[in-house]
Amino acid sequence: MKGRRILLGLGGGIAAYKVCEVISSLAKSGAEVRAILTDAAQEFITPLSVATLCRHPAYTDQDFWQPTHARPLHIELGEWAELLVLAPLTANTLGKLAHGLADNLLTNTVLASTCPILLAPAMNTDMWEQRTVQANWQQVLGNPRCHGVGPGAGILACDRVGMGRMAEPPEILVAIESLLQTGGRRDLAGQRVLISGASTREYLDPVRFLGNPSTGKMGVALAQAAYYRGAAVTLVHGPMEASLRSLLPPVQTVPVTTGEEMYAAMLAHQPEADWIVMSAAVADVKPARYVAEKLPKRSLPDQLELAPVPDILMTLGDRRLPRQTLVGFAAQTGDILPPARDKLQRKKLDAIAANPVDQADSGFGTSTNQAIFLDRHGRQQAIAPCSKLSMAHQLYDFVLTIDTSNGAGGLADLGQPDWPESFKGQ
Ligand code: CTP
Repeated sequence: MKGRRILLGLGGGIAAYKVCEVISSLAKSGAEVRAILTDAAQEFITPLSVATLCRHPAYTDQDFWQPTHARPLHIELGEWAELLVLAPLTANTLGKLAHGLADNLLTNTVLASTCPILLAPAMNTDMWEQRTVQANWQQVLGNPRCHGVGPGAGILACDRVGMGRMAEPPEILVAIESLLQTGGRRDLAGQRVLISGASTREYLDPVRFLGNPSTGKMGVALAQAAYYRGAAVTLVHGPMEASLRSLLPPVQTVPVTTGEEMYAAMLAHQPEADWIVMSAAVADVKPARYVAEKLPKRSLPDQLELAPVPDILMTLGDRRLPRQTLVGFAAQTGDILPPARDKLQRKKLDAIAANPVDQADSGFGTSTNQAIFLDRHGRQQAIAPCSKLSMAHQLYDFVLTIDTSNGAGGLADLGQPDWPESFKGQ
């Protein structure tokens, strides 16, 4: 986020107070943040609060009409912004956007800008559900510059329970980071992306299981990144915290627990997928026997007999359709490259992210990650420590630039994969 230029436009709604949290997080992450408050927004929060969080004066319509600027303020701001964020977006401002109207600093700046626009509507349920408001919303979403986040359902300030609640600050921050990474490009539009995430659990009895510390943050980041690039996303995931699930944009989710359930879900969704990204940490083995009642301590076996769990990615590789792009992860310790190369080849993947799990701030449960990406032509790209969302975007960037001259989206000829000489025989 460092040095990125983000312009926030605050409308008149009680959710304006939540936007202070967004501004604060952006400023702390090193972004340059500017803000415009409409007259109505100033009924809810003050320019002084916003300016303090931005570390820069906040703009109002008073500034718009002052002859103190060398160039018109709306032109300056419109040209300055890399991303415009309208939050909370009121029914009134939405209506103006839909019809290209401009009667204040905020709406004039929108028309004077060319950068992507993120819209976070907030209003009462009846207002949101009006046919005119819905028509305006569809109209602005038809503009390639415009991206929506929320609204969600919940308790509103008017005591109604329903649609119209502004997206929460962490969801808005995910959308902002995504749009800054891509410049608003929807390069996965029309693509169906099937992702697996989190761990699987193999139960011995109702309370004990074999598993691993994967939380699903990487899977969620992959789903968020694909969604903001325009894909239709399905996320098959093992057990995940509700707080993490709440950060998912509108994607299809398929919760599973065991490796066999994940195997069945991934294979069921495989035929319609254009991309498959397998980030789940699947348990490789399960207890050979499951006991339906909790075993007392004295009855626990000294040695646990194990049975294999099917390799989902290997099966997907064997059954891949020519149009499909297949991406895996290799969570490794020590020298991460040789085993990752082996998995890339053995599982017939287009690309793999070799992911060190023995480094600080990388791997299981962390918000950051690092990796080396490898593709089927032997191309290699090191990814320095970054947020998992940034890594997800860099992975899509990497896979989108794989040379597909010998095939549409995946391996053209399954019998003769295009492995470089250096991979053969390893
Ligand atoms: N994977 C899978 N099904 C399994 C095990 C792994 O689909 N039963 C997938 C993972 O989601 C990951 C890739 O295979 O994308 C590599 O997983 P990893 O556990 O690193 O490799 P394994 O093939 O299990 O090899 P090993 O444990 O020997 O390193």
